[in-house]
Amino acid sequence: MEQKVQEGKAGGSNRMIERSLVIIKPDGVERGLVGEIISRFEHAGLKIVGMKMVWIDRKFAQKHYAAHKSKPFFNELVDFITEGPVVAFVIEGVHAVENVRRLVGHTSPHEAAPGTIRGDFAHLSMAYASKKGSGGKNVIHASGSKKEAEAEIGLWFKKEELHSYSTVHEKHVF
Ligand code: PPS
Repeated sequence: MEQKVQEGKAGGSNRMIERSLVIIKPDGVERGLVGEIISRFEHAGLKIVGMKMVWIDRKFAQKHYAAHKSKPFFNELVDFITEGPVVAFVIEGVHAVENVRRLVGHTSPHEAAPGTIRGDFAHLSMAYASKKGSGGKNVIHASGSKKEAEAEIGLWFKKEELHSYSTVHEKHVF
């Protein structure tokens, strides 16, 4: 089965089809928000090309958050993402990295607009999380750039866990 993002489209438009890694964090899973969150991406016409529930260990979490190793809240980040199972999935679509972050909203729920996932399902500020010495419980993680998405997808998924298939949206979206 072909594992790469679709190829062969005219005019280089397939270069605009990207993949992004999304993680519903332990707070989102424990609050029963998995279905609601996945629906938001599906309703926008984005395609899920891989998905799993996994309880990661500290070593894996440290790899995932390696870019933030020097930040004062690094240990809290690792504590939080390892406190329960998470649902990780890969989303494919036009400008998927940017579009997914738009649907997810600002990193700090306090600043996330209503209508975004973090704005609708959380409200704390990162300043509050820091004072409490806890990870910022912001429900979801999404890759910040195409480069980050590539690295994160490679860390979380094997090639054979990612699938190429057609959705009915593609007549209208792709
Ligand atoms: S981002 O999304 O990477 O551009 O945002 P950034 O501000 O660099 O944050 C990186 C991750 O750290 C989390 N974060 C915090 N956790 C605890 N306390 C404080 N103060 C804090 N500030 C940021 C933030 O949620 C990011 O993790 P993800 O998993 O991407 O949400």
